[in-house]
Amino acid sequence: MEPLARSPLFRNLPPLLLLLLPLAGSGGRTVAARGSFWHITDLHWDPSYTVTDNPGLVCASTGTRPAPNAGRFGHYHCDSPWDLIDSSINAMKVILPEPDFIIWTGDDTPHVPNEQLGEEAVLSIVGNLTRLLQLAFPKTKVYSALGNHDYHPKSQMPPGQSTMYEQMAQLWQDWLEPESQRTFQSGGYYSEQLLNKTGYRVLVLNTNLYYDQNKLTENVADPAGQFEWMDNILTRAAQKNEKAYIVGHVPPGFFEKKRSKPWFRPDFNRRYLELVQKHHAVIYGQFFGHHHTDSFRMFYDLQGNPISTIFITPGVTPWKTTLPGVEDGANNPGIRVFNYDPSTLLVEDSVTYYLNLTYANAMRERWEKEYRLCEAFQVPDASPSSMHAVLERLAGTGCDLQKYYEFNSVSYDLSACDADCRVDHICAIREVDFERYEQCLLREGTAATPLAFIPLLIPTALTIYCAAL
Ligand SMILES: *[C@@H]1O[C@H](CO)[C@@H](O)[C@H](O)[C@H]1NC(C)=O
Ligand SMILES: *[C@@H]1O[C@H](CO)[C@@H](O)[C@H](O)[C@H]1NC(C)=O
Ligand SMILES: *[C@@H]1O[C@H](CO)[C@@H](O)[C@H](O)[C@H]1NC(C)=O
Ligand SMILES: [Zn+2]
Ligand SMILES: [Zn+2]
Repeated sequence: MEPLARSPLFRNLPPLLLLLLPLAGSGGRTVAARGSFWHITDLHWDPSYTVTDNPGLVCASTGTRPAPNAGRFGHYHCDSPWDLIDSSINAMKVILPEPDFIIWTGDDTPHVPNEQLGEEAVLSIVGNLTRLLQLAFPKTKVYSALGNHDYHPKSQMPPGQSTMYEQMAQLWQDWLEPESQRTFQSGGYYSEQLLNKTGYRVLVLNTNLYYDQNKLTENVADPAGQFEWMDNILTRAAQKNEKAYIVGHVPPGFFEKKRSKPWFRPDFNRRYLELVQKHHAVIYGQFFGHHHTDSFRMFYDLQGNPISTIFITPGVTPWKTTLPGVEDGANNPGIRVFNYDPSTLLVEDSVTYYLNLTYANAMRERWEKEYRLCEAFQVPDASPSSMHAVLERLAGTGCDLQKYYEFNSVSYDLSACDADCRVDHICAIREVDFERYEQCLLREGTAATPLAFIPLLIPTALTIYCAAL
């Protein structure tokens, strides 16, 4: 990527203003007709972050890992310092100061043991981030979903009414209609007309209820009655001819950076998939976080037609995951604008912006456009059929997989995506269903027999070639 800042013409502009330049020439579409909204997620503020020469004392979220050369905007072993959070929100204001709305999919607290937090600490962190966003966007509607880290103890969301749900609803009262307050207090989820417009709807889910780390919902058939509620809301939406977006934190399906690693319990995963298959005609987009990476998930009907897509937006925190089996799972901080058609809710495109953390710490704060979806993958829009076409490109023999792979970590990990990596990503994107995912691994897999190795030589060479571009 050639930073605009290097061009002498732009040298005297304040750094954040440079961001506006890529927006000016955004290709053949009529920009005015489009709607746009922000999606931000996984801010994971670590209030303990301090720039110091002692690599053991930089932040609590590093655990036992040293954090040498920590800078003002953060460290890949740590969650976000305040300066990074503030920088992200400022970048949002500079890039797109008047979005139609904002989707915020949670995880605000640092990755530290429960003993270092508590109900009050969690509420204080969520409260301060809420205030920051409200100060920056006082007139903008925010659809805010709970992340598994926005609770104490973490991930232990109860399948019914709780004081933490009540207090969270209090913090977000400006963003919630009265009926939303009510359902939020009793289960952490809600649904409203999108921007209070007839014919449009948003469902903000508490999918932390389905997370396999949640001990409180292990033997509950339909935690907080959310599935039944969702089924009813979507049934009524169909009757009323509404179009809907779904917003949540923990997505169904598998983590693309670790083979056979799902988040939902099996029954919950199946139920979610069935609901999307049943109601896909009213669902125009699904927006999730939790991975900290940039990816997407496809849903198909029984005939194999693409019917829905989950867009997984990368996190603001650069924190390298400690999940065993993930190699170097850090990322650069990312934020994303979606372009959509306000009359149809068709997702038209997305633009991801990022802060190169290494550069920011060494030089200065510089948010750059990372990529525009339609431009990078040569599709007309981000509809399910277009996203299926993107997947087919990734599964093909060109350089698209490598390009996607670099975006996956927000241009942090630029190494080659090898044959195993290819299978992990392709199958996670293609199959949300547990059994079909395992079948995909076998089908796409590298079952390491000597003969199977020969045709692999070509894609491997290609991967190295693409990474070197
Ligand atoms: C949140 O802001 C308040 C008021 O500025 C401050 O007292 C509190 O310490 C902040 N919370 C955290 C976790 O730093
Ligand atoms: C939503 O629209 C209805 C009818 O147009 C209006 O009465 C209501 O006050 C609006 N609600 C909000 C939160 O703007
Ligand atoms: C990020 O910045 C560092 C330091 O300037 C540079 O070496 C690296 O190539 C940059 N990464 C990207 C993706 O531009
Ligand atoms: Zn997270
Ligand atoms: Zn999470």
